Amino acid sequence: MGSLSFFKIPGEFHRAPDPHPWKDLDHEVPVVDISSLEDTDSREGALQALRDACESWGFFQLLGHGIPRELSDKMMEVAYKFFDLPAQDKLVYCSDNVLDDVGFATNFEVSKSRRPSATWQEFFFQMCSPPCDPSKLPENPARYLNVSTSYGAEVTALARRLLELFSESLGLEASELAGRFEGELMSMRLNHYPPCPEPQLTIGIQPHSDINAFTILQQDVEGLQVLHDGAWVTLKPLPGALVVNVGDQLQVLSNDKFKSVEHRGVVNGERARVSIACFYSPGLGARIGPIPGLVNEECPAKYKESLYGEYAKASLSMELNRKSALSTLKVDV
Ligand code: OGA
Ligand code: NI
Repeated sequence: MGSLSFFKIPGEFHRAPDPHPWKDLDHEVPVVDISSLEDTDSREGALQALRDACESWGFFQLLGHGIPRELSDKMMEVAYKFFDLPAQDKLVYCSDNVLDDVGFATNFEVSKSRRPSATWQEFFFQMCSPPCDPSKLPENPARYLNVSTSYGAEVTALARRLLELFSESLGLEASELAGRFEGELMSMRLNHYPPCPEPQLTIGIQPHSDINAFTILQQDVEGLQVLHDGAWVTLKPLPGALVVNVGDQLQVLSNDKFKSVEHRGVVNGERARVSIACFYSPGLGARIGPIPGLVNEECPAKYKESLYGEYAKASLSMELNRKSALSTLKVDV
């Protein structure tokens, strides 16, 4: 323990007790490699692995994704540098609306009333697709604009490929999902969790499921935990891998085949942690419901159709804790 252990954190950061145990099951977290999809056998194998992962965990470590390691590392580097700036230099980007083009927030300012407790975190976000106005992006560090623009473009291209693979792994035409993603959106959120003197008393990000279609996350320090079989499982950073998880929209589109699973971020006493989460979704005007090809007599539609923009607004006005807005779309059985 470093010198931080002399300090106590303010009471508003104390989280509610959590009913779930921690389990060290990291070795069981699915790993999906998409490096050799041209070969028919490996393609089948990858699609099967993708389907199993989305059905059982809702999360997987993605290898062979094609995003150059150097670019990912640079993205991490500019993110750490940005968060190292003095508070007044970051606060100029302050926004209390995560649907803005660009913004910065500590969880003290953003929708404080929605949260059961303050979280040990600050974050910066920007739209990658369609791209935000570059003049709104940080000038410091100097490479921020270039690096975040390239990374955003690469991640968006990867998301489009994944969308095809998700389609195929559901037994649909490769283009089926993409056809429902008119006005696609990609937004990037840099999460910063400073070292905490009493890490077990607080939380970095409250348990939640992602409201978008799916998320592509980069991390270099552990802290991300996924609820699996009633226990929190830490997804340890795997060198070169990106963490991908199913969000609420993909759960709806797949008619519950794929699971949008609850996850959270815990903090540690030793070192700062940054995660870079890229959220891919349809446009706000897209109508999202179970894909007709996945609905039949044995498997009737589990959800009503809704506008993604309305779902996003409703979710953002709910307390960020536990149950997602998905239950409001459930068809009664
Ligand atoms: C998120 C998220 C987890 C992390 O930003 O939605 O779940 O590890 N982040 O920072
Ligand atoms: Ni999340």
